[in-house]
Amino acid sequence: MSHIINRRNWLRLAGLLSAGLGLSRWQEAKAAFIPDSVAAEQRLFQEFAQLNNLPPDTIPALKARLFANENPYGIAASAKEALNKASVLGNRYAWMEFAQLKTLIGKEEGVAAKNILITPGSSDVLMAGAAYYSQKGPILTCRPTYDDLLERATGMKGQVLTVPATAGLGYDLAALKAKALSTPGLSMVYIVNPNNPTGTLVPAAELTQFCRDVAPTVPVFIDEAYIDFLEPAERPMLGKLITEGLDVILARTFSKIHGFAGLRLGYVMAQPKTLQQIKPFTNGEFAVSITTLMAGIASYQDQAWQTYCRTENAKARDYTMKALKGLGYEPIPSAANFILFPIKMKTKAFEGQMYGHGVGIQTREIDKQPYCRVSIGTQAEMETFVDAFKKVVG
Ligand SMILES: Cc1ncc(COP(=O)(O)O)c(C=O)c1O
Repeated sequence: MSHIINRRNWLRLAGLLSAGLGLSRWQEAKAAFIPDSVAAEQRLFQEFAQLNNLPPDTIPALKARLFANENPYGIAASAKEALNKASVLGNRYAWMEFAQLKTLIGKEEGVAAKNILITPGSSDVLMAGAAYYSQKGPILTCRPTYDDLLERATGMKGQVLTVPATAGLGYDLAALKAKALSTPGLSMVYIVNPNNPTGTLVPAAELTQFCRDVAPTVPVFIDEAYIDFLEPAERPMLGKLITEGLDVILARTFSKIHGFAGLRLGYVMAQPKTLQQIKPFTNGEFAVSITTLMAGIASYQDQAWQTYCRTENAKARDYTMKALKGLGYEPIPSAANFILFPIKMKTKAFEGQMYGHGVGIQTREIDKQPYCRVSIGTQAEMETFVDAFKKVVG
């Protein structure tokens, strides 16, 4: 650890970060194929390895890895067991397992198997959505939000229109609705709920009404990557709108509550016709391995594991919120596994100094105000974060 992070190196890192290091050829090659958010994390790793003369692709030793909204508890024991069982099936194509998972999802969400497409993580369907909708017309959203789909769309020469967020940095549904219904030629409305990076939540009833009002005119694409952190009774359960025939697209991932960020599993629910249109731009269901699929089937049924992760996340989040407020900061109330709050330092200097203490977080500017986004790790990791934060902000 000490050979990786020391005072001299964090100063150099902070300097390099603020100078905006050019991408290496390795980075360029990777950035071409992966979402921007992942590329940004990998760039940090690379810069760190470079500073310390470590071999490329070295992952720096962090005391608390709080920059990627991952699940700090790992994967369920039931998922590990399924992975082991599946490993001997590696010579066989997955077949019935897709149907099995769709049956489970369909039962839970109130949709039919024909409304579900399994994907290797939800990024696959975000990229496919960007490819398909960006060529049809402008995409409407509310920023700040998760930019991967939007940046891919503009990268493909598509147009992204935005409405400003509410005063609390939430999605402004009234403004979105007004613009969606008055702008001819829109291809879709993109909403992230709970939102990333803000952690804000659009209440279920409002979102349901929004879809009923807007989806008959413009498709509504809702990225629900963090939905599992809500208590079941709080979830919007928008599958019913799909069954009613509305053009609502729901992207889900196993990367968060299930801890499958590295295993790669997600799914999208939509009208069969919409799935047919998006599917050619995805990598196809066969991009999901049988091991991941079988582990996913186990994890999906493991309610105890999901409840454990949700409860622990809420406890560690409460602790962090209280600690930040106690230090005079104003974190935005979060419904997810991360917290966004305004900081009083320049973003890259703050990021570099936190790294110097072995804590990886993300920063960004919103309306010229620097913010920190910290993922919720274990209680011990959040205590490490708070200790480091106190040292950095004095
Ligand atoms: C809002 C949102 N959507 C989608 C993703 C992509 O996740 P994955 O591709 O791992 O499913 C993320 C990842 O952090 C996210 O924050």
